[in-house]
Amino acid sequence: MARKTYRLRSSGVKRYHFQSLVLLLLALVVPYGTALSGKEATDPSKVVGPNECAECHKQEVAAWKSSHHFKTFREMPRNKRAKKIAKKMGVRRVKSGSTCLNCHFTVQLKSKKKKTISGISCESCHSAGKDWFKIHSEYSGKTAKTETKEEARARWKSAEAKGMIRPASLYRLAKNCYSCHVVPIEDLVNKGGHRAGSAFELVSWSQGEVLHNTWHSKGKQNVPANAARKRMLYLVGLGVELETGLRAVARATSRKLYAFEMATRVDRARKKLVAAAKAAPNVPEIAKMIEFAHSAGLKLNNGSALTAAADGVSKLLVKISASYDGSKMAGLDRLIPGPKKFKGTVRNAKAVK
Ligand code: HEC
Ligand code: HEC
Ligand code: HEC
Ligand code: HEC
Repeated sequence: MARKTYRLRSSGVKRYHFQSLVLLLLALVVPYGTALSGKEATDPSKVVGPNECAECHKQEVAAWKSSHHFKTFREMPRNKRAKKIAKKMGVRRVKSGSTCLNCHFTVQLKSKKKKTISGISCESCHSAGKDWFKIHSEYSGKTAKTETKEEARARWKSAEAKGMIRPASLYRLAKNCYSCHVVPIEDLVNKGGHRAGSAFELVSWSQGEVLHNTWHSKGKQNVPANAARKRMLYLVGLGVELETGLRAVARATSRKLYAFEMATRVDRARKKLVAAAKAAPNVPEIAKMIEFAHSAGLKLNNGSALTAAADGVSKLLVKISASYDGSKMAGLDRLIPGPKKFKGTVRNAKAVK
């Protein structure tokens, strides 16, 4: 079958090219599903705020303060585009009670009132801390030296059971980035003119301005991910891109920009995974993810099949992040973006007053 490329003009500025498979979206206009809100709110009653973390994590806070995640607090609401988007969405103040909160800000319950306390902060990525932040740092009531290995394991298990997202749980970590960096809210994109998400890739987006691996070197170094860790970041990131994209297409109800953007995202992720499967043939789960991705058509009104496909991908990702460490995936190295592609500048570790 001949592959056609179609063009669709949007607001006269950008031009979008779509391949025939994405065009399937044009076939059906039956709405599916209900309005969904994208990132789940971090529970404001459990947020302790970055100042609390700063007491022990000064270096990490310093790195965070030079990132977009921190700056969005002041800058986004003043941005002209923000005002435009908000107006179209009928949002009066982006910093209070709006759809924008979950992805752009941290909200804390202070004397029974919800206060927007900062931009995207520690707890946006490591989860709201109230139930775990004491546990994670107490060395089981001993010291770093006297706590036994079993006690440390139990401590981390308990912190995770209370919600903590640790760097070791790569799948949870990645999924959390994507819960904001893909914007699965159809109205916000089609009506509000908000981007459908970022051109996100986990290695390049985590190893630049976001990097704050300063704890285990006692603040001496901001340690970049090693080769094995990068492979895992790359692979799990791609898988989550696919999963999140499938769920986003499942929510598409009209053949407009949102649906095209999300279907294109899935298509791109599938292609990159095909390359990854070839480069790392010893990881059979990659091919299985691709199979799931092809099990549901990228079209409107196909929510249950697409969601089932995403669930299948999810199970494989849990398995991949638990049973591999990247050491035997050197084939992936040539696919992974290098330092020139890293987003923003790494903050050098240096003494913090
Ligand atoms: C009282 C000091 C203290 C406070 C407050 C604190 N931490 Fe920690 N944090 C620690 C210590 C100590 C460790 C390392 C424990 C270890 O290595 O076993 C740690 C480790 C971590 C880690 C790395 C976990 C891992 O898997 O290696 C993360 C992430 C983290 N903290 C996040 C936070 C966040 C977010 C907050 C605020 C909500 C916070 N911490 C508040 C002391 C603290
Ligand atoms: C599901 C998460 C999500 C929600 C909800 C959301 N945003 Fe965003 N927003 C993002 C992400 C991710 C980016 C960064 C996109 C990129 O990589 O360029 C962004 C970027 C922006 C930008 C800067 C980029 C641009 O287009 O100029 C503005 C302005 C903005 N958002 C405004 C808003 C407003 C206003 C709301 C609420 C009406 C809102 N956002 C709701 C995730 C979200
Ligand atoms: C954008 C999401 C994000 C934000 C915001 C964030 N972190 Fe992290 N954090 C991560 C990721 C991702 C890693 C692990 C990266 C890796 O393993 O390569 C990490 C690792 C850590 C570690 C382990 C460092 C080490 O040396 O091993 C600590 C401690 C930590 N974060 C604390 C914090 C604190 C405190 C804040 C707030 C000031 C914060 N984080 C904000 C995503 C985030
Ligand atoms: C709570 C939502 C949220 C989470 C979670 C989140 N981000 Fe973001 N991120 C955003 C928004 C919104 C922006 C755009 C902020 C702006 O510029 O106003 C952004 C911006 C960024 C930027 C700067 C992009 C640029 O244009 O230079 C990087 C890099 C980034 N995020 C990486 C990550 C990584 C890596 C993770 C996971 C470890 C992550 N983010 C998790 C919402 C989030």
